[in-house]
Amino acid sequence: MKAKYNAVRGTRDLIGKDARRLLAVERSLGDWCSSFGYEPILTPVFEEEALFTRSIGDATDVVRKEIYQFTDKKGRKLALRPEGTAGVCRALVQSMKLAGAMTRQRYFYSGPMFRYDRPQAGRYRQFSQFGVECFCESGPYVDAEQVYMIDSWLRQAGLADHEVRVNSIGCPACRGGFTAALQERWRGHADELCGDCRERIEKNPLRVLDCKVPDCYSQRGEVPAAEKLLCACCAGHFQRFKGFLEALEIKYRQDDRLVRGLDYYTQTTFEFVSTALGAQSAFLGGGRYDGLISQLGGPSVPAIGWAVGLDRLLALVPPELANFPRRYAQGAGFPAGCCYMAFGSGEAEAKYIPVIIQLLKSGIDVHWPGKPEKIGKQLKDANNFNAVCVIIVHENEVQGNAVQFKNFKTGDMVQVAWEAGQSPETFAARLAEKIRAITHAECRS
Ligand code: HAM
Repeated sequence: MKAKYNAVRGTRDLIGKDARRLLAVERSLGDWCSSFGYEPILTPVFEEEALFTRSIGDATDVVRKEIYQFTDKKGRKLALRPEGTAGVCRALVQSMKLAGAMTRQRYFYSGPMFRYDRPQAGRYRQFSQFGVECFCESGPYVDAEQVYMIDSWLRQAGLADHEVRVNSIGCPACRGGFTAALQERWRGHADELCGDCRERIEKNPLRVLDCKVPDCYSQRGEVPAAEKLLCACCAGHFQRFKGFLEALEIKYRQDDRLVRGLDYYTQTTFEFVSTALGAQSAFLGGGRYDGLISQLGGPSVPAIGWAVGLDRLLALVPPELANFPRRYAQGAGFPAGCCYMAFGSGEAEAKYIPVIIQLLKSGIDVHWPGKPEKIGKQLKDANNFNAVCVIIVHENEVQGNAVQFKNFKTGDMVQVAWEAGQSPETFAARLAEKIRAITHAECRS
């Protein structure tokens, strides 16, 4: 018997074990990200259309061609969300959560997104995303930590065949040089570009790099490397980001064409790609978007995030995988609060980075300012970050190889020596034990 009604083109049903797998992945990612200090956030699936036009950009394909907009019975112009970042930012600005904030805030979400694109394998009109957004943290290590968070989950799930691509598209101050170089590359070939790209050269040249038309000139040849045109601040940020990725043993490829298809990005951009997925090979995308919150009427706070397409991720996960990665079960970090590292100098910070990396790897939610600050200011910051303990490395302690370990809840302070010949791993393991003793007590109380 033929069904009278079918699922609408580009949508699909997940029934029984398929639905169970999606829910299990969602839950596992939620637990995983919680151990890095992320909290859940739920926002509506539809918003004012103008929110998306403003945040994502009116020259992007997502807004120009793919948005599902509609007018409600009162004539309001609304749209189904094509992605999660704009709604999360709107919610935080509206609830004043970021007002006066230098307090870090980290959120994760999961749910359906809608884009009117041509359906094909791995590309749907309703699809699911799991995403994270992190606010008020500007240091490049946060960018690397975000990449690490998902890379380590994938590895735990037995997926190691993906490629991590990274780039930096600079800040508004140095973007001008990059867009001028792109315009120069394409202006002489305008007649070989597709109609959309001819318009984009003047309006928004970065978007030419997202063109999907196969024989458009924009697809051919090299493009100017943004990295060479970055201001000193953005270049330094990018170098340090890559340095942290290396310290975290994440293999990456620098991709000069990686500008991402949404206008809000600044500095760091990244994507995870798998050849196992065929044409729709990118299964995760993200980056920094330091200007978006202020554009939406909030304070000027830095932000960074990523979203993974669950439909594509599930196509990568082996069907026999029943237990998705968990971190709590390993006695790792708890969302009770982070461990804050305070440094008396840049030299102290550099020496302890291998220790931080080990703490992070063992599941401790660790934060440090990433730029020179007075110790007193850093301790205030630790309070804002809901730290359960602070590890203070004064300049003179670098020589003596010891740290002050302060239980931030009781105020107790002890010195922990980094003994001669001890590896960063062993020293980090000692610190992790002390931190866990506090977080376990916190979770019980
Ligand atoms: P995006 O790259 O547009 O980024 O989407 C992220 C992921 O969603 C893609 O890598 C892909 O797996 C999945 N996806 C996108 N479109 C479709 C589709 N039509 N069918 C199936 N899966 C799809 C964003 O959405 C940003 N909001 C990510 C972000 C968060 N950046 C900062 N914070």
